Amino acid sequence: MTLYSRITGTGSYLPPRRVTNDDLARELAGRGIETSDQWIIERTGIRARHFAAPEVTSSDLALHACRHALEASGHSARDVDLIIVATSTPDMVFPSSAAILQNKLGIAGCPAFDVQAVCSGFVYAITVADAMIRTGGAKCALVVGAEVFSRILDFNDRTTCVLFGDGAGAVVLEASDTPGILASDLHADGSHVGILCVPGNVSGGQVLGTPLLRMDGQAVFKLAVRVLEDAARATLAKAGKVDADIDWLIPHQANIRIMQGTAKKLKLPLDKLIVTVDEHGNTSAASIPLALDAAVRGGKIKKGDTLMLEGVGGGFTWGAVLLNL
Ligand code: ACO
Repeated sequence: MTLYSRITGTGSYLPPRRVTNDDLARELAGRGIETSDQWIIERTGIRARHFAAPEVTSSDLALHACRHALEASGHSARDVDLIIVATSTPDMVFPSSAAILQNKLGIAGCPAFDVQAVCSGFVYAITVADAMIRTGGAKCALVVGAEVFSRILDFNDRTTCVLFGDGAGAVVLEASDTPGILASDLHADGSHVGILCVPGNVSGGQVLGTPLLRMDGQAVFKLAVRVLEDAARATLAKAGKVDADIDWLIPHQANIRIMQGTAKKLKLPLDKLIVTVDEHGNTSAASIPLALDAAVRGGKIKKGDTLMLEGVGGGFTWGAVLLNL
């Protein structure tokens, strides 16, 4: 019997503090930095984002998202035998946020580890979980994207601090005798490190370099549009499917213009594009599972639908996953 993996529950969580573009513009004005609701909406599609309270960590956000996903799948935490957390804003240097999350879920023993692929983290993590399930290494995995990007934003740099937010999304991925995940396609090209990075590290008890996000927005934009089309086409080809087989496109929620550009290249009408960037901002590895859960709970995405998930981010990393829900 061929073994497959399938999503059986989704969940998400946003910290309660919602910060609108006007709120942010007021805050930045206090530092002598000018921005506006109109600029942010026109260039990015973002209207608001959520910021976590200072004491809240990625694993705290992940815990809420996982509880919702477990409830939706009809499982308890005791059934979980694998935890993978995609994050670039972990609770600590080590141990992993996945190990911390495992403890917060009240379980112990199953493998738990973080995946670091920035905004492609969730497509990387679900691809790894799928491979482990198909080779018999797990039966019931929690795959999570969780971020507190507000911690690594430079609020003196208006070109980046208006783009990102905090949140978490999770899925329960289970062994199945019918295919859920159909194909995936992952890539990285480290020659582009400099266009999107947090160039700091910890050494001798000190932070060396800049522990804040740096981005060449236009370089990222150009690369993202190209690689997202390539990854979607490669994934469809591996699954023996065509553009028209996609019911819903859930790209990484970075910028509405990149997302709409990708939909157009795949000849998908814009009403097949799941958009949450307007309310969430860019939540990096959390953005895809957050968007997925919002669309499932909102009744847009239904069981049996074919979804194309697409991530792109620092590294540079990118990838896509095609699945039947
Ligand atoms: N408010 C007002 N004006 C601003 C702001 C702001 N927040 N930010 C920049 N500007 C100004 C610039 O200074 C510039 O002014 P100038 O013409 O006087 O020099 C003008 O607006 C245009 O700036 P551009 O950088 O050319 O604006 P662009 O249209 O490229 O939009 C943006 C910038 C939104 C960052 C865009 O390039 C983008 O979305 N890039 C992709 C970013 C992305 O997707 N990042 C996430 C990747 S995923 C990950 O791994 C984190």
